[in-house]
Amino acid sequence: MFYEPTWESLRHHGVPKWYEDAKFGIFIHWGLYSVPAWATPIGELGEFSAEEWLKNNPYAEWYQNTLRIEGSPTWRHHVETYGEDFEYERFAQLWKAEKWDPDEWAELFKRAGAKYIIPTTKHHEGFCLWPSKYTDFCVMVKGPNRDLIGELSKSVRNLGLRFGVYYSGALDWRFTKEPIAKEGDIKYIRPHTYEYSDYAYNQFMELIELYMPDILWNDIGWPEKGREDLKYLFAYFYNRNPNGLVNDRWEVNHWDFRTAEYKVGYHEEIPTFKWEFCRGLGYSFGYNQVEGEEHTLTVEQLIDTLVDVVSKGGNLLLNIGPRADGTIPEIQKERLEGLGRWLEKNGEAIYETRVWERYGEKLEDGMEIRYTKRDNSLYMTVLGKILKGEIVITGMRLEEDTKIEVLETGEPVKYINQGKELKISIPDELRDKHGIVLKLSPVPTAKE
Ligand code: GLC
Repeated sequence: MFYEPTWESLRHHGVPKWYEDAKFGIFIHWGLYSVPAWATPIGELGEFSAEEWLKNNPYAEWYQNTLRIEGSPTWRHHVETYGEDFEYERFAQLWKAEKWDPDEWAELFKRAGAKYIIPTTKHHEGFCLWPSKYTDFCVMVKGPNRDLIGELSKSVRNLGLRFGVYYSGALDWRFTKEPIAKEGDIKYIRPHTYEYSDYAYNQFMELIELYMPDILWNDIGWPEKGREDLKYLFAYFYNRNPNGLVNDRWEVNHWDFRTAEYKVGYHEEIPTFKWEFCRGLGYSFGYNQVEGEEHTLTVEQLIDTLVDVVSKGGNLLLNIGPRADGTIPEIQKERLEGLGRWLEKNGEAIYETRVWERYGEKLEDGMEIRYTKRDNSLYMTVLGKILKGEIVITGMRLEEDTKIEVLETGEPVKYINQGKELKISIPDELRDKHGIVLKLSPVPTAKE
């Protein structure tokens, strides 16, 4: 199909199968902010008032903005560590990526079970991670002196993973001086000139030409002056990559999937559209050296998050924040590998699945289960540990020939339908285990 640069024509673009099937991607926040790598880990987005959040921003990639708020913890940290006169842009001189091996990253992401990778090409600070002909504030002129986006795209594609690009469309702090400090600021402390809107447009076109991404993941919004131009950008993109997608942060009425971030926009039910949930392993996207075990999701929590999102029709875009030298902190690696080990055994219940009639349920004894469906099977994943010897689901009847097995081992599991209750007996060796998946074939007909 050929897309015209009209909103009407673009509407015909649907969510490609690869993205529906993929379920799990890796987000990478890497930039000048990875040099100071510092923020106050106060909690998750959605738990604080705007003012409180912005002054104590746990997002380390917001360092420059928080630094502009005098008296903030980041401002204090900066003055003590680098001195009052040390301008943010100077971090470019300290960013060397000297230990960076993109193949090693790609292998780790693959081992983790991710199917697509989305790095920041330009975050709010404005520093570009590819050699852009539109600015000198980029990685070939300053900093690592390598095409980080180009090299990474090759490494991940070599392993059969898809590649998308994050770009901060609405915010570019090279063009504004005031801090975003309170509710509403983010709407107007932005570059509003035609010059900037052309700049952002040209850069996206450049990214398409150079790397042909599979996802255009824009952030915050788009300069009002350039919003109508996006029809041309999207048509150009889809005509070259019909399996490409755009997210929903452009402030226009067109998107392929919606985004949720920490507590903002998370779905408690199955929505009617495709969505993607993003978050860091801790409270930040950019690497925050202050974060430790207590701020980081455990492998078990990570598994539960993925399962919950997928049972509601979403994808998980899990962020990692590499160090400035190009290494990935041990704690992040350990989490990715843990999730990868679970997916290796239980991926059948995740990849290529579709939602069932309902996402899951809370059983009378408090245990939570989630459903996914693939071919002729229904997968039932237990969140948390299996505590009891029995799973009891009220109102589910199985056909006589239904088989239930433990996905990981293929071991058959006994059950009985008693009145309105389905009672599945849990083999002893599964007790206390986390992330157990039961596979029911054929898919049962719904609850009565
Ligand atoms: C946000 C933040 C940002 C992060 C992101 C990820 O809006 O401003 O720092 O990159 O979204 O979803």
